[in-house]
Amino acid sequence: MSTKTDKLEFISESLDQRKAEHRFRELVRIDPELQAAEVNKGGRRMLNFCSNDYLGLATHPEVISKSREYLEKFGAGSTSSRLVSGNFSIHEELEADLAKTFGTEAAILFNTGFQANATILSTLADRNSFILADRNVHNSLLQGAVLSRADLQRYHHNDYNHLEELLKKAQQESYNRILIVSETVFSMDGDRTDVEHLIFLAKKYDALLFSDDAHALGVLGEKGLGLNYGKVGIDISLGTFGKAFGSFGAFVACSKQMKDYLINFCAGFIYTTALPPTVIGALSASLKLIPSMDKERTHILNLTQYFKNEIEELGFETGSSNSQIIPVIVEGEEQTIALSGELERDGILATAIRPPTVSSGSSRIRITITAKHKKDQIDQLVRAFRKGKS
Ligand SMILES: Cc1ncc(COP(=O)(O)O)c(C=O)c1O
Repeated sequence: MSTKTDKLEFISESLDQRKAEHRFRELVRIDPELQAAEVNKGGRRMLNFCSNDYLGLATHPEVISKSREYLEKFGAGSTSSRLVSGNFSIHEELEADLAKTFGTEAAILFNTGFQANATILSTLADRNSFILADRNVHNSLLQGAVLSRADLQRYHHNDYNHLEELLKKAQQESYNRILIVSETVFSMDGDRTDVEHLIFLAKKYDALLFSDDAHALGVLGEKGLGLNYGKVGIDISLGTFGKAFGSFGAFVACSKQMKDYLINFCAGFIYTTALPPTVIGALSASLKLIPSMDKERTHILNLTQYFKNEIEELGFETGSSNSQIIPVIVEGEEQTIALSGELERDGILATAIRPPTVSSGSSRIRITITAKHKKDQIDQLVRAFRKGKS
């Protein structure tokens, strides 16, 4: 009897299973409308409530102009990795400006937040280490933990007693090092970590602290510099540029010694082409603009509060959200898809987030509020939820 099977059978089986579970992911073509919080989907203008471009910098004239200037001066590509011939003066200048702005000894650029998280964790930890990550951290951090081959334990979300219990136990073992990993604003729930508490525990148990500030940057903290800003005791303070910075890439604010270590040992820094000049230009303009955008930040927070009040009045739960990311919890997967479809018919683009991205029974429509939204657009969104609910 032949045991030969189709070598690609596992692919068609997995895809079929995804379809049967109504969890098949597909790309949807969306083009931005440059001047507004709107997008063009299939020729139809829709209000966008799923963008991470919190300050509208992706289409800011100064950002575009600086990006164009760097393109013309330095070319379309950086030609190689930073350690070969891709370390231009503009990369070094941006890193120096980041360190100065964030008040750290040094800063180092990465090509994406995903790449940074997945490869920094696996540079700092090895098979003799212990990683303690919040239950809700981003997938990129889990990838990094798995890649490191360290023991990984996820502590209950934002539960510092549980974390301390695990730290105490870990101290009895012979780990070479212990790492605490968290986000400051959680990407799917919009709630916050108590960074000071993590710093306290990291100090008490001599653990390294990795704090991902992706969703706070630009929006929260003094001058919009995030929730890690000004806090001493964070070993890796990670920021991403694809969200409030309006462009692409990531950085770590850290000590000079940590930067040297990453340059020497972090594969995700060493073996990849440096960010292109267009991106560096956009980022240097965004970095100058962000501290001065308090008006935009106040607008975001006001609209967020307004939306939360209205949606909770309709009987929806928004969990512990305490930021511009607001999960409107629907629970059932099918109801969530149906509601997302209803919103779409009403001209609202808002993503349904379902397992495996969030735990089962907590499917939601994830709403993000940006500086480009206007109050009447929030009213339109609330009306659409009211209609979708009935
Ligand atoms: C908390 C968090 N960290 C890291 C990332 C990855 O960043 P990037 O989009 O730059 O790869 C994301 C993006 O979804 C995120 O939400």
